[in-house]
Amino acid sequence: MLIRGLMDREPGGDAADSGAPQADGASAVFAHDLVAALAARPRHISPKYFYDARGSELFEQICELPEYYPTRTELAILSRHVPEIAALMGPRAEIVEFGAGSLRKVRLLLDAMERPARYLPIDISGEHLARSAAALQRDYDGLDVHPVVADYTQRLLLPATLPGAGRRVGFFPGSTIGNFAPHEALHFLQVTAQVLRGGALLLGADLVKDPAILHAAYNDAQGVTAQFNLNLLARANRELRADFVLDQFAHSAFYNSPQQRIEMHLMSRCRQQVVVDGHAFEWDEGDTLHTENSYKFTIEGVRSLALQAGFRPGPVWTDEGRLFSVHWLHAPV
Ligand code: AVJ
Repeated sequence: MLIRGLMDREPGGDAADSGAPQADGASAVFAHDLVAALAARPRHISPKYFYDARGSELFEQICELPEYYPTRTELAILSRHVPEIAALMGPRAEIVEFGAGSLRKVRLLLDAMERPARYLPIDISGEHLARSAAALQRDYDGLDVHPVVADYTQRLLLPATLPGAGRRVGFFPGSTIGNFAPHEALHFLQVTAQVLRGGALLLGADLVKDPAILHAAYNDAQGVTAQFNLNLLARANRELRADFVLDQFAHSAFYNSPQQRIEMHLMSRCRQQVVVDGHAFEWDEGDTLHTENSYKFTIEGVRSLALQAGFRPGPVWTDEGRLFSVHWLHAPV
């Protein structure tokens, strides 16, 4: 359950993952974006639409798959180096998490930190955010858990730091930064550098590697990633007036090596017509809707992007297999 704000050009709304077709704000935005996506050439839509309640559940399952190394590798890196990370954070630090991500990761940090002062998870899905925040608050008495419903790719207004608080540390795990195009990643880091002035960013980034490993991670044997991808169409059928026949679309995920990214698409298995919100769309066999980019990085690439955005790159941690990297980036003063 993460990343809802990515590449969002819309105000966001609080993404009620409600059931039946209806004209609430969130569904209207989804309907508008899906119709625009199907009319565009190439057809493409933001990956944020994967994450309704069912999509978030499927993503949690992906994180447990044997082929999907990022989650477990990042957790291992964090737990191995958490004493050093906690020392860099210092006493009374505040964590700002972009996306109400895996509580497992932030718990690891909180457990090692010296008297953490506040946790500010930012997410555009108010419902998901409230649930995660309440769960965490129950377990950490002295911690001020302060959810912020916002689209972090847009303007970011955070509450002032608490009196007597330590550093403000951004936390952006999971390589969610890989969902951005390079110019969007740079822009995100520039905005973040300003928001975190005097503090730092703890950033997870997936690394370039043998394409066979990448291919397996996005084409798992159990087909969970395929279900996750196809859930976009299932969600449209649930929430909008759409008539996708799921069997007539195939999951397609491949490594685009010149662009250093995994691309996910939904590919039409036949010539067909789909109606969404009263608009008819024609598909030929093999036509695709591009649903996600997941960029892979080199360690130097992340450091130079961060430097360009105004951060001073600090320590980097990785695993023995060099699959994944975690970066400490000092924000400007
Ligand atoms: C949540 C964006 C980091 O790109 O690996 C997992 C999403 N898509 N399997 C990723 C995802 C297909 C994931 N991120």
